[in-house]
Amino acid sequence: RLPVEASACGKVILLGEHAVVYGRPALAAPVCGLRARARAEPLPPGAGCWIEAPDTGERLRLSEAPDHPLARTVRLALEHLGLPEPDLRLVLRSELPVAGGLGSSAAASAALVRALFRWADRTPEPEIVSALVYEIEKLHHGTPSGIDNTVIAYERPIRFVRGRPPVLLRIARPFTLVIADSGVPSPTRETVAAVRAGWEREPARYEALFDAIADLVQEAEACLQAGAIEALGPLLDANHRILQELGVSSPLLDHLVEAARMAGALGAKLTGGGRGGNVIALVRPEDVEVVTRALRAAGARGAFATEVRAD
Ligand code: PMV
Repeated sequence: RLPVEASACGKVILLGEHAVVYGRPALAAPVCGLRARARAEPLPPGAGCWIEAPDTGERLRLSEAPDHPLARTVRLALEHLGLPEPDLRLVLRSELPVAGGLGSSAAASAALVRALFRWADRTPEPEIVSALVYEIEKLHHGTPSGIDNTVIAYERPIRFVRGRPPVLLRIARPFTLVIADSGVPSPTRETVAAVRAGWEREPARYEALFDAIADLVQEAEACLQAGAIEALGPLLDANHRILQELGVSSPLLDHLVEAARMAGALGAKLTGGGRGGNVIALVRPEDVEVVTRALRAAGARGAFATEVRAD
């Protein structure tokens, strides 16, 4: 048999992170230019199934690392396919920063799942990929809302509410984001736990902040449907302010967001779990260069533009 390959995109949360864990809606979009890629290569009979991640130097045998998230992913997919352990080498590579809020863990799992389905001459429906990856996200995040696995499995901009099928977003006009990496890894599990601790201390205040985020999400969805891209900027700014109040920003993230705005971004915010990871800035196409440069000058490790469109 010939080797097969599959990939999965990264993602950004446009608005609504953290509140989405508490049942509020959130908007997310795929980042098609940054991908995790899995390659499945046949091995001689009896060799067993090996998973290799050259980026992190990991190499494990499926039967000997039962609890490793990558091994769990492979086992889940094989169970779904009704296959025994194959003689197979799975090589996973990723362009996504780890713990950067761009969905690196969900993308890795989704790429592996797709490669195994392809190996079995099957094409998985997005809801199958999403459900399998969600099982793995639970290992990483504790109580994930499910937004990462969903947007990555569908590879389309979505409106997401926990426990419901996603709604594909209607986007009248494509728009451009600059995504900038603070270079600070920040496990989502920790920021989600910090928000949970605050919510337990001051439930009424946190519920009000989540409601305020939900209102911004609703307004943003209306802007996207109407093609009112300029009006989206202040909504991102307002969402960032609430994330500051939730305690998930950081001086560096605030500095990056401010630098983007000063350079002409229409709005900017942290994206994902926060405290580290990435920020997004909404920019007019002609301002991509200057905002990207300003973010780098302000301390971002990397900054690049991505277009969000409905198809
Ligand atoms: O995986 P991240 O860092 O993009 O964060 C996911 C968004 C949160 O709302 C913070 C957590 C969740 O499970 O939805």
